[in-house]
Amino acid sequence: MLQVPDLFTERLRLRGWRSDDLDGVADLLADPDVARFLTRDGRPADRTQSWRYLALYAGHWALRGYGPFAVEDRATGAFLGRVGPWRPDGWPGFEIGWGLKRSAWGKGLAFEASVAAGRWAFETFGLGEVVSLIRADNERSARLARRLGAKPDDQPWSVDPSFVVWRAQRRDWPGAG
Ligand SMILES: CC(C)(COP(=O)(O)OP(=O)(O)OC[C@H]1O[C@@H](n2cnc3c(N)ncnc32)[C@H](O)[C@@H]1OP(=O)(O)O)[C@@H](O)C(=O)NCCC(=O)NCCS
Repeated sequence: MLQVPDLFTERLRLRGWRSDDLDGVADLLADPDVARFLTRDGRPADRTQSWRYLALYAGHWALRGYGPFAVEDRATGAFLGRVGPWRPDGWPGFEIGWGLKRSAWGKGLAFEASVAAGRWAFETFGLGEVVSLIRADNERSARLARRLGAKPDDQPWSVDPSFVVWRAQRRDWPGAG
């Protein structure tokens, strides 16, 4: 069984997935404002669909040796969301993705988790660049990408023009240079 590392930041713990994360994932993906950008059809996921997403996150680690981390509040252990590497078949690069419960927005927590996950990915895999696929109407996500040093491609993603590929160079990523 693959050992997923624990990454600690000031306020967060990024860790591997457990079956008892189902409540947290179901809660995250039941919110229309989150699901809009995180589920495949943009609609809230029910508990059965959430179990499939949980299996997908864990399975990504098994198949690739990296994947999204479960993010929890370091002080309380509460599940907050998922942040980290994402690279399904056909992806335009090594993505760092993010998605937190709405109660965790507006506190710099997604930034904090993404900085740590990206730094880990740059160092572990010797990457020069990471990407983030962001829907053109996802302004919060674009703001975060910009804070992380990413810049949008001039043209939309050729495979699905509703997405823009943002690219961050290692030298521009906070603390990774
Ligand atoms: C995209 C998403 C992760 C962004 O979350 P976020 O909390 O806005 O992002 P950050 O962690 O960068 O936080 C920045 C905000 O926290 C505020 N903040 C408060 N304390 C802060 C601190 N200590 N450090 C940094 N920012 C802080 C900033 O001022 C900023 O507020 P603003 O957006 O009102 O200007 C979140 O909206 C989300 O999960 N959305 C749904 C899923 C999604 O869209 N995923 C991306 C798919 S591409």
